[in-house]
Amino acid sequence: MNVALAETDLTWRHVGTIDDIPRQGARCVKNAEMTIAVFRTSDDRVFALEDKCPHKAGPLSNGIVHGGCVTCPLHNWVISLEDGTAQGADEGATASFPVRLEGRDIYLNLSA
Ligand code: FES
Repeated sequence: MNVALAETDLTWRHVGTIDDIPRQGARCVKNAEMTIAVFRTSDDRVFALEDKCPHKAGPLSNGIVHGGCVTCPLHNWVISLEDGTAQGADEGATASFPVRLEGRDIYLNLSA
């Protein structure tokens, strides 16, 4: 059923399973020139952000996931996994993408 969804609905791209991503880690997906980081939280939620910190483009996929946020590995900005916005006093946002978990399969919507 999940395969049928991937074949018939071009909006949602199958990008692997949740087992491909370590808890509190990320895996990168290429989309043309953009790299998208797909994150897995400690309670098995998944989120997708462009792999580019809104501060100075640090690789968020190498950051530390905690709760619903990721801390950038370069200068420790905290970025919301829900919508890509910088938290606290920091300002800016990175692009976020809808993600759907069907069983253990992850689907990414790149059209939004
Ligand atoms: S590049 Fe991410 S905090 Fe500076």
